[in-house]
Amino acid sequence: MKAGTRSSGRQLSMLLPLLFLVFGGARAWPWPSLSVPSSKAVGRVLNFFPVPVTEECLSDDSRRTGLCLNTYECRIQNGESHGPCALGFGVCCVFTLSCSAEVDNNVTYFVNPKFPGLLNDVGECSLRVKKISKDISQMRLDFVNFNLAQPNRKTGVCETDTFVVTGGASKDLRICGLNSGQHVYYDVDDAKDDITINIRLTKANYNRMWEIKITQIEFSQRAPDGCLQYFHDSVGTVQTMNFAINGRHLADQDYVICIRQSESMCSIVYEPCDENSFKIGPPLYSDTGIEGSGDDNGGGGNPMVSMDSFRECSDRVMMPCDSEEFITPQGGPGICDLLHCGSNFCSDKETPCRIESSTTPFVMRVQFGPGNREENPEDNLGMCIRYEQQQCSS
Ligand SMILES: *[C@@H]1O[C@H](CO)[C@@H](O)[C@H](O)[C@H]1NC(C)=O
Repeated sequence: MKAGTRSSGRQLSMLLPLLFLVFGGARAWPWPSLSVPSSKAVGRVLNFFPVPVTEECLSDDSRRTGLCLNTYECRIQNGESHGPCALGFGVCCVFTLSCSAEVDNNVTYFVNPKFPGLLNDVGECSLRVKKISKDISQMRLDFVNFNLAQPNRKTGVCETDTFVVTGGASKDLRICGLNSGQHVYYDVDDAKDDITINIRLTKANYNRMWEIKITQIEFSQRAPDGCLQYFHDSVGTVQTMNFAINGRHLADQDYVICIRQSESMCSIVYEPCDENSFKIGPPLYSDTGIEGSGDDNGGGGNPMVSMDSFRECSDRVMMPCDSEEFITPQGGPGICDLLHCGSNFCSDKETPCRIESSTTPFVMRVQFGPGNREENPEDNLGMCIRYEQQQCSS
């Protein structure tokens, strides 16, 4: 008790000169809550003291993340006030930028011109993202809204609109279509230059909208090496890019989806979101033989699809697992295959289709080849898979 009193006394004496500075500043800066320095306010200032060191806050509509700053700081940094924070001593300052701007903040929202309206002009829109410090290891992009034009529906190539990220250590990212709710991590460890996000819109009369949250991630919080997507929850849903109604998976993708192993979880179960949520290429086989002869794709001469050509699916999803070690979950047999393509996630027509794997780390690799074949978009919707980590049995 005594020791506590002594230490808080010491703290106070250290704070007093600082407190004086705060008040000195308050007179010069329009910081409304401090304009009446009553004794009550002094108490609040003490509570509030750590806040000018940038703290995160939630905007008044709870939709966006901002930094708790005083009104003046927010204004000179070109932020926008979105309600009070820190007991009313600061404002939740949200940073929103559009085309031809430069990001030099941790959390920034990149939106289309006219947002939240739609954009149907033709043109290019790019954003430069500067690392806020040398320790920034990755940029996380959260696609709060991502509605660009669809790719060529036969090939999956992004032709009308493209969204491209360049400049970092990761391979360039190139996508289009509908990706709201998706996220990506982009490595910037060794990046000397700024990262550039470039959106190219080549045709009018499409309605586009985007709202992308850009967060700068330090090394300690980074996603593991090579993970384009990193899911932190023990239960969740993963989807390939442009998994949507009337969508189609994108050509030319090669990336890894990672799921963080939760504490006391030893394996993971994957299930398609519904019976139509695994469509990566024409059906390979069925009980009665070969489905979908592929008449319309010109090149596919041999109707007999052997196991070998199955292994060569140029559009595929891979999951590491040793088939000799496959685990049979309670719901039925689930053989963990390395390679998945065609119209079934499970290799046999197991129902329900459910695959369990205890190979760690929990990852899936998406490999979609170049869009040099024309295929039925209905056979190429992509993948939506629900996952659930399983407790270690002790
Ligand atoms: C940026 O903000 C996120 C959360 O929104 C936080 O986790 C991260 O540590 C911040 N990055 C830096 C460099 O402060």
